[in-house]
Amino acid sequence: MFCQAIFAPLDFRFHIPAKTTSVILFPIRPMTRSLLVEVRGGPRHYHVLIESGLLASVGDIVKKRLGGLHCAIISDSNVAPLFGERVKQSLTAAGLEPTLITIAAGEESKTLEQAGAICDQMIVAGWERQSFVIGLGGGMIGDISGFVAAIFHRGIPHVQIPTTLLAMVDSSIGGKTGVNTSAGKNLIGAIHPPALVIDDVDVLKNLPRRELNQGFAEVIKHGIIADAEMFAALKDVDLENLAPLIRRNIEIKSKIVAKDERDRTGQRALLNFGHTVGHAIERAGDYKKFLHGEAISLGIIAACDVSVKKAELPHDQRDAIVGLLRRFDLPTRLPSDFPREKIFEALQYDKKFERGQIRFIVAPRIGSAHLSSDVTLDDIREAIREL
Ligand SMILES: NC(=O)c1ccc[n+]([C@@H]2O[C@H](COP(=O)([O-])OP(=O)(O)OC[C@H]3O[C@@H](n4cnc5c(N)ncnc54)[C@H](O)[C@@H]3O)[C@@H](O)[C@H]2O)c1
Ligand SMILES: [Zn+2]
Repeated sequence: MFCQAIFAPLDFRFHIPAKTTSVILFPIRPMTRSLLVEVRGGPRHYHVLIESGLLASVGDIVKKRLGGLHCAIISDSNVAPLFGERVKQSLTAAGLEPTLITIAAGEESKTLEQAGAICDQMIVAGWERQSFVIGLGGGMIGDISGFVAAIFHRGIPHVQIPTTLLAMVDSSIGGKTGVNTSAGKNLIGAIHPPALVIDDVDVLKNLPRRELNQGFAEVIKHGIIADAEMFAALKDVDLENLAPLIRRNIEIKSKIVAKDERDRTGQRALLNFGHTVGHAIERAGDYKKFLHGEAISLGIIAACDVSVKKAELPHDQRDAIVGLLRRFDLPTRLPSDFPREKIFEALQYDKKFERGQIRFIVAPRIGSAHLSSDVTLDDIREAIREL
């Protein structure tokens, strides 16, 4: 596993030795420089392009890399009016035949029924294996469009155009796709890595501040588990120039995923730092009280408190983490009237409590994390009580 930065000619083709996550600085148009990350994991690999203004070039970019004529652009009712036509026009201009399918914005749309309805629409239109799917939206769209791509004709290519920070740094990387059921979130799904990810950082200008901030919860998590230097630099982050930060986060996540794509060896579990308690808080708040990243912010603090107790995380580093989360207006205390009992109840639904065994990720210092077998349910409860 290594990273390299080189200048490449005006061409998307290049060769990199197998099993790498590589970063290539890459001019696409004169005066602009696109960042490109090659994500490899097992037999599959894909590219992530990161630059301002990429939406206008989607057609050319996609045509160079994928076969097929028909594509479904799956988007939501907030994102489609902002960017749908631009993407459609770019694809049409490149000689492709796109159809824009818009579903209602919000997590409620991420269902098996909705995925089935989209597939039906594609079947009725007579599309076959040569078609492909573009997900244009946040993580909700990324997950459901990826799931459609995974099951339509037993799998067609999926292009992700993430439009939230969370989707750029987290959900578009790693190949997890899926939908929710009444029993819980993301219980049905498939690993179906994208064929290509296109991050146009300009779309983030339309993102409400609260949505941008929740993406920073995952960025801070990546810093805690894998990159002390990035963590330290976050206090001075330049919101006008997020591309290098996004690239670094993609590298961090993809390196971890490459070691454990199917969540079997425990490596991928590192990405769950803060998520055991975070998921329980989301569930206890009926998925309405907190955005995912906000619940994760609280979960990170609980995980830090457990880490102070069980992994010797220094107090001052715990305090630095709390300070950084606050900087992005993320919650660091639970409202006093929030029913903590509901969080304890919700903990039992967590996939990480396998056969009664607790799989809890602790951080002994900023920049490092590991799975602990030493954490008890009481430790977690105590951390929740202190939130
Ligand atoms: N597959 C994975 O590995 C993975 C990882 C983390 C999260 N997820 C999933 O991601 C989802 C959360 O993702 P999210 O936070 O991006 O939520 P989201 O997709 O619901 O987007 C949040 C809101 O922002 C709006 N929006 C999106 N882009 C916009 C833009 N550029 N300008 C204005 N508004 C915009 C959306 O319409 C929505 O209202 C959840 O479904 C979660 O389960 C998946
Ligand atoms: Zn998360």
